[in-house]
Amino acid sequence: MTAPLDIAAIRAEFPILTREANGKPLVYLDNAASAQKPRAVIDAMRRAMEGSYANVHRGLHTLANETTAAFEDARKTAAKFLNAASPEEIVFTAGGTDAINLVANSLGQSMVEGDEVILSKMEHHSNIVPWHFLRERKGVVLKWLDISDDGTIDPKAFEALISRRTKIAALSHMSNVLGAPTPAKDLTRIANERGVKILFDGCQGAAHGKVDVQDIGCDFYVATGHKLYGPTGVGVLYGRRDVLKSMPPFRGGGEMIDVVAEGYVTYNDPPHRFEAGTPPILEAIGLGAALDWMSAKGVEAIAAHEAELAAHAMRELGKLNFVRLYGQAPDKAPIIAFNVEGAHPHDASTILDRAGIAIRAGHHCAQVLMKRLGASATARASFAVYNTHEDVEALIRGLHKTHELLR
Ligand code: ALA
Repeated sequence: MTAPLDIAAIRAEFPILTREANGKPLVYLDNAASAQKPRAVIDAMRRAMEGSYANVHRGLHTLANETTAAFEDARKTAAKFLNAASPEEIVFTAGGTDAINLVANSLGQSMVEGDEVILSKMEHHSNIVPWHFLRERKGVVLKWLDISDDGTIDPKAFEALISRRTKIAALSHMSNVLGAPTPAKDLTRIANERGVKILFDGCQGAAHGKVDVQDIGCDFYVATGHKLYGPTGVGVLYGRRDVLKSMPPFRGGGEMIDVVAEGYVTYNDPPHRFEAGTPPILEAIGLGAALDWMSAKGVEAIAAHEAELAAHAMRELGKLNFVRLYGQAPDKAPIIAFNVEGAHPHDASTILDRAGIAIRAGHHCAQVLMKRLGASATARASFAVYNTHEDVEALIRGLHKTHELLR
């Protein structure tokens, strides 16, 4: 049991939460798209810009040394956050999308026509389109793992999709629409037994529960800064040391090299092999501060509070006979997709916005899933640690109003 968090005190750490939207107190329920930032992150980035900033890994002067140390400390923090065996297993990227593009491009270099990649039908476009590039450019075959209506994956169905040509499975650790956790450990065991690499897209998963990449045993795990209370423009690719070591670089430029001559080039070791050019220095420092902030609150305690909100919201939404819910797994994260009878999700979102309530509406960058669910679009309310039971009630009131106006 983790001690409950003081949510009022946590809210006070997020300057933006005091503002209004359309003259109403802000109820921010679009956290699966991007979370707000606590003072600790804002201050860490400002401190770096005001007090100690230079390029990293290049200079020998004081500011360069200090900034390099801060940047590498952020890598250590990310390694600890995901329980990687060492900081060398953490590559800083420009975000979750960039991390998956890195893996697809690097591993894709040795793939040939007829090789297979397994994706689930609930992936968001970040974890579909980079693999489609391999289909278009190399004739790689995409094999689609179906999911339950609630967004759960059956390990047996996964195993049945694997063939001798399967090179990698790239699967969501938690759908950005349905919110159900993926049985990552079981899937990894199956993939390992069959010699298939496995990547988990943790863009949502890392925000809503403790991730232990060594316990999962996966080859790759992807997380993005801005959904973890950190800045945009930075993400993390965890790759097992031996796997990263075996991979060719994706982008070329400074810092990823060992020797550059007129007739040849040799490459640095991971993680630097995959960090061409000046990396997102300030953003990585901000992400480090965000992960420290989450760890100080307790990732389990954050998840426990969010689970209470999710249960409350699902209970109340379930009472509204004009609301259709998508994804009702009992252990789902606080990511709730729904539609209001007679209302296009864009209209529902606009009406809620007038009451100060921010949700997302649309296909959620998951068109394959929308087709699987038989919906062209949905509304989505997604909660974070600073949300409250009053926020849930405000949403329910807003939905009554939406229904009254649009039925
Ligand atoms: N993938 C992000 C979302 O789910 C942008 O909204």
